[in-house]
Amino acid sequence: MPKTFYITTPIYYVNARPHLGHAYTTIVADVACRFHTMRQVETFFLTGTDEHGDKVVRAAKKENLSPRIYVDKISGLFRALWPELSIKYNHFIRTTDASHIALVEQILQKIYDSGDIYFSEYEGLYCFGCERFYTDRELVDGKCPDHETEPEHIEESNYFFKMSRYQDWLTDYIKNNPDFIRPKRYKNEVLAFLKEPLEDLCISRPKTRLKWGIALPFDKNYVTYVWLDALLNYISALGYPDGELFKAFWSSAHHIVGKDILKPHGIYWPIMLKAAGIPVYKHLNVHGYWNVDQSKMSKSIGNVVEPLQLKSVYGLDAFRFFLMRDMVFGLDSNFSEEALVQRINSDLANDLGNLFSRVLTMVHKYFSGVVPEVDTKVEKEFQLGLESAASIAIAEFEKAMEIFAFHKAIIAIWSFINQLNKYIDVTTPWELAKKKSNRKQLEVVIYNLLEGLRIISGLIYPIMPDTAATMQTHLGMDAKKPFYNLDTLKTWKNLPPGTNLPKSIILFPRIDFNKTKISLPKISGSMSETPAIKPEITIDTFGKIDLRVATVIHAEAVPRAKKLLKLEVDISEKRTIVAGISESYKPEDLVGKQVIIVVNLKPAKLMGILSNGMLLATADDNGCFVATLDKKVKPGTPLT
Ligand code: MSP
Repeated sequence: MPKTFYITTPIYYVNARPHLGHAYTTIVADVACRFHTMRQVETFFLTGTDEHGDKVVRAAKKENLSPRIYVDKISGLFRALWPELSIKYNHFIRTTDASHIALVEQILQKIYDSGDIYFSEYEGLYCFGCERFYTDRELVDGKCPDHETEPEHIEESNYFFKMSRYQDWLTDYIKNNPDFIRPKRYKNEVLAFLKEPLEDLCISRPKTRLKWGIALPFDKNYVTYVWLDALLNYISALGYPDGELFKAFWSSAHHIVGKDILKPHGIYWPIMLKAAGIPVYKHLNVHGYWNVDQSKMSKSIGNVVEPLQLKSVYGLDAFRFFLMRDMVFGLDSNFSEEALVQRINSDLANDLGNLFSRVLTMVHKYFSGVVPEVDTKVEKEFQLGLESAASIAIAEFEKAMEIFAFHKAIIAIWSFINQLNKYIDVTTPWELAKKKSNRKQLEVVIYNLLEGLRIISGLIYPIMPDTAATMQTHLGMDAKKPFYNLDTLKTWKNLPPGTNLPKSIILFPRIDFNKTKISLPKISGSMSETPAIKPEITIDTFGKIDLRVATVIHAEAVPRAKKLLKLEVDISEKRTIVAGISESYKPEDLVGKQVIIVVNLKPAKLMGILSNGMLLATADDNGCFVATLDKKVKPGTPLT
């Protein structure tokens, strides 16, 4: 097993705010990284933002901001999001970092000096969305396959990188290293592409057309093509060529990308590395798209799903679990809130949550909350293959995690969970508890179940780190110790008898989809975009909405939900309301305030609390703001 593990996400364009697709890739990297820490491998996790190029300039213009201010703002949104999703990266790179710019200049000069870059007249079809030239055969019905727009015909002099020189080398390399690009379908896709002659890559943009980029070190009238600049982040972040990080981690580099950027990573990047005399990365791991209503999420279609909204309604671990369980790494998957709720209810609330609370309740009922001793004579008879089931689950988990087959790793864990649930049904501890003479048997059964839970708590750690820690605390383990260490998980009978365990809790409350689904509006793309005005309604329709003035009597945070506050309000009767405003308001800020409530909206359950009405508020980049009146009125007064 290699001693280090280097994992990267794509660096995200700052032309739009982060969405579910970005969150997925970054959570994958986090899960893979945490898995390697379970094996005590030294890890380095890199993410960041791609900040140069035409796309960014146009997005900044739309916001009426200079590119510099704009990129700081959006890059900040990405950086702030990752900790919210329990993503523990080591370094956040920005292509506007001075050290990155210096490295790009250095590598370009090196390739130029070795004769792989030449200057030439060029005319071709250019897609501004992709910021690249297209060949006729790449277009679909004359249009860019990604943006479905006709590219523009452009004539200009530019610098070109002789990629064609390395075509045969790359083809051979991929064939000789079948795992280089995985899953296999993407390796085949790259090989199919390499069957046709590879065109040289235009690596510059004249400054007359684009100023926001890194100037070519050998011609200041041009800036670097954004992809060349961006790909080099993977080594500039490690301090190439002399940095200690580069020496320690580069040989174990794993890139994770969506299938949209297979070509730059599967073709341009290895060729660039080869031309610069740098060993190529170890693996390119390519995943499919999260689609919504069968189309790729996109700002223009308006089907963009916001990760923090899902987190605040369903909880972070449930959200992470769903993403890892429902997408087969490499294939597309359709996102639906309904599927998310089904997963939570069946896999988390039912299978795992029930097992956990059943076992802990029995420990308290039969052993006053203390981990029982195990009589080795009785032990064998009541093992029923549980120990070997645990080792099979661990082995399958490890094998699947290694190749990014996260859904298979989860299936392995859940098959063990189901075995534990069956073990309860077969051993019937409640029957054993009826007779004093069965005490030793009961001890063995309960101890085995606790051991099973210990192993599960370790295996779920990369996917659901918070739940893993909660389970550990309830199993009386020291959460500060690396409980998820795979070697410890492989040793059966690790829980010390005699430990006092806290009372059981509900790990995942069941969710009623009909009550939560309305709470998930979709975001539009740009921060300052105002949504289009909705279709006209009559005064009668409006009259159906009962808006009332309410005085806040009490407010408190909702446990395990970052955004939610539970409010008790007076509308001449008492109501409970849950509102997603805790990032902008402390509970004490609200008490005594008069707010506006929709009082006849169908009640909805949020994090297990029934919200009987909806608070009116607005939000922008500075936070959210509740609607209030400028004078006090009697609680319950209608708004007309
Ligand atoms: N800046 C380039 C990457 C340069 S890396 C040297 C870029 N940025 S991006 O913001 O467009 O991010 C693309 C990546 O976001 C995809 O490769 C994928 O990881 C993720 N996703 C964006 N939309 C997605 C889905 N709908 N589904 C899954 N992942 C998606 O390309």
